[in-house]
Amino acid sequence: MPVHIDTLRADITTLPVDAIVNAANRSLLGGGGVDGAIHRAAGFELLEACRKLGGCEPGDAKITPGFLLKARYVVHTVGPIWHGGTRGEAEVLASCYWRCLEVAAEHGVRSIAFPCISTGVYGYPPELAAQVAVGTVRYALSGEHPFEQVLFCCFSPADLRLYEHLLADPAG
Ligand code: AR6
Repeated sequence: MPVHIDTLRADITTLPVDAIVNAANRSLLGGGGVDGAIHRAAGFELLEACRKLGGCEPGDAKITPGFLLKARYVVHTVGPIWHGGTRGEAEVLASCYWRCLEVAAEHGVRSIAFPCISTGVYGYPPELAAQVAVGTVRYALSGEHPFEQVLFCCFSPADLRLYEHLLADPAG
């Protein structure tokens, strides 16, 4: 079955997909933004599960159950903090998307939704981040993979326009 890559504007905690991705920090012990929203919606058991993971390096990903979420799993990743683009931020961000797909695939995930990793508190310019996100996911899905649906879940109308534009361009 060919994979369906799409974008939408939504609160990621509401999505009925196999896995949602959390833009967390190295501690994996919660925070603001999408991380805070996911922990609130999943319930206290998510924090208990995260405590057992021993943190996460930027560019890596770890998985927990979704507890009270509709999603069966949460894939936690840690994006780069933007320092102007000269400290390997793009490589680390690409690694986030890549590792999330790898870890999700290992757990039988067929549908997954990503937030705009690093573009909030971590300050990554949204347009540059969207290019990395779409480019990396397209590359990962050009090889063998189990995915049926990959969603880029935007919170702002401006982000949605960025992704719509990139996804409309086969080379974008
Ligand atoms: N659904 C979808 N997207 C959301 C939601 C939501 N409910 N809430 C926010 N966003 P950020 P980062 C978008 O700051 O930049 C946390 O405190 C938001 O509009 O959540 O990777 C962590 O603990 C933006 O587009 O993540 C870390 O300390 C995107 O999610 C730090 O922030 C990411 O913004 C990570 O910073």
